[in-house]
Amino acid sequence: VSASTTALQAPAQPTSTPAISKEVTVLYGSQTGNSHKLAKKLSGKLQDQGFQVTQASMIDFKANTLKKVQNLFILVSTHGEGDPPDNAISFYEFLHSKRAPQLEGLPFSVLALGDTSYEFFCKTGRDFDQRLEELGGNRIVPRVDCDVDFDEAANQWIESVLASLGQASAAVQVPTANSAALEGTVSDYSRSNPFQATVLENLNLNGRGSDRETRHLEISLEDSGIHYEPGDSLGVYPHNHPRLVDELIAAMGWSPDDLITLPKINEERSLREALTSYYEITVLTKPLLEQIVALTPGTGLEELLAAGKEQELKAYIKGRDLLDLVQDYDLEGVPADSFLALLRRIPPRLYSIASSSKAYPDEVHLTIRKVHYTASGRVRYGVCSTYVSERLEPGQTVSVFVQDNPNFKLPANSETPIIMIGPGTGVAPFRAFLGEREENGAEGKTWLFYGDQHFASDFLYQVEWQRWLKEGVLTRMDVAFSRDTAEKVYVQHRMLEKSKELYQWLEEGAAVYICGDEKKMAHDVQAALITILKQEGSLSQEEAEAYLMKMQQDKRYQRDVY
Ligand code: 2AM
Repeated sequence: VSASTTALQAPAQPTSTPAISKEVTVLYGSQTGNSHKLAKKLSGKLQDQGFQVTQASMIDFKANTLKKVQNLFILVSTHGEGDPPDNAISFYEFLHSKRAPQLEGLPFSVLALGDTSYEFFCKTGRDFDQRLEELGGNRIVPRVDCDVDFDEAANQWIESVLASLGQASAAVQVPTANSAALEGTVSDYSRSNPFQATVLENLNLNGRGSDRETRHLEISLEDSGIHYEPGDSLGVYPHNHPRLVDELIAAMGWSPDDLITLPKINEERSLREALTSYYEITVLTKPLLEQIVALTPGTGLEELLAAGKEQELKAYIKGRDLLDLVQDYDLEGVPADSFLALLRRIPPRLYSIASSSKAYPDEVHLTIRKVHYTASGRVRYGVCSTYVSERLEPGQTVSVFVQDNPNFKLPANSETPIIMIGPGTGVAPFRAFLGEREENGAEGKTWLFYGDQHFASDFLYQVEWQRWLKEGVLTRMDVAFSRDTAEKVYVQHRMLEKSKELYQWLEEGAAVYICGDEKKMAHDVQAALITILKQEGSLSQEEAEAYLMKMQQDKRYQRDVY
């Protein structure tokens, strides 16, 4: 899959219909691929209706052609503290700068993807929407903000866009064309229709004495028709903890075996099953609390939601789950069906795939670290990582789908050197990269920076790296075990120690990949790259940043961070 600009030509016109007068530009900013997928869907449908569609990732879009755009549709997600996806940053900054052109009367609409459990829900989409209006654009369809279960809302937005343009272009309708090539679908399984895959293996990769528990999961894709590339992710639908489910049912005074109908799929399940595998019960959001208040006034919850109490509300919902809420505010006795109707569907968790399908046909491997943290005075466990660590045994099935990630791909040319930086579970996709390069007999040099706490207990996949080093699949490897020495050492320290060679690799055209923790690690690693460029290339801060930006535009600087 390539993220490059695709100009989609309308199908050949029957001579009787007038020439197409409508050109549409569809721009997406996507971190995990959802916006990209929806952009493809919109573009395909527009093309079917005879529009001439230019679809591009924002990073590939030539901003100086914006003035010529005739209709603009933006699909963009929001991350962390309201941040745009990597491939949207440059366009976002351009549009918000003084260089942005006036867009008098430009028909536009924005689809924003996000997660209501974050404070800056859909901020990037909202910003684009507001800015396009400021620049004179004409919002022909209201912006839609989607929560994690985005399918329905996104499809409605797509239909609204089609309807609004359809009216404008009723005269130029052409017969339906085949959009299969645009969709690029291979298997029938997807986020909304996951595959029930059998677990083949589930091992703890950490040794005795480690603070960590990291699972190596092998999953069978046999007979699914599912394909994936190195760099793609696997979506996993977790199950909630049975104890939490039972306690919640008891606290509400419900009966676990009562049947309820699941929305959308319209199937009956027992209450216990529905709360285990269908509904999210571990995250409190402001919109959810508002709906609960509307359903059951007089529980005291109104006060928490009162104007001016935003900080208290934020502090309360952080790390708390539905059981906490039910116990803190007397919600017992609310009927199960009306309560469940307010809950979100449990969102899938995306994991960077750790295997090359060439090396392991019909299998997919994951590297999942058990997450626990303390919040509101209690130890909390990550829903999916706990499910995988404690309750997913070989022979059992798990609901999965492949999420392709065009933003994290090996170079097209197998001779291009690659530098991979992946401490902790961030190393997962690099096991896939090296497996793939080995199977392809690729000639390009490879360099891995890896780190974790202790050499003896936390060296994930140690024997595999050693074999690849011996066989030359891996050219070099530098490791940083942070807690084996008095002073902490991290991957970026190793990079700085090797700055001369690293700069040389960059000048030879190496592609750099970073995977793992976003807030601390990826940020510090990027700072180290800038330092290396300044030091070894005698560049100023601005020149070094421009160098990295150019690398990003050329797909030579890619990140898969979380
Ligand atoms: P620490 O836990 O000792 O702080 C994988 O989690 C590895 O990444 C660990 O060795 C961890 O070290 C390290 N790590 C933590 N913060 C980091 C940062 N800002 N940059 C790079 N590595 C970091």
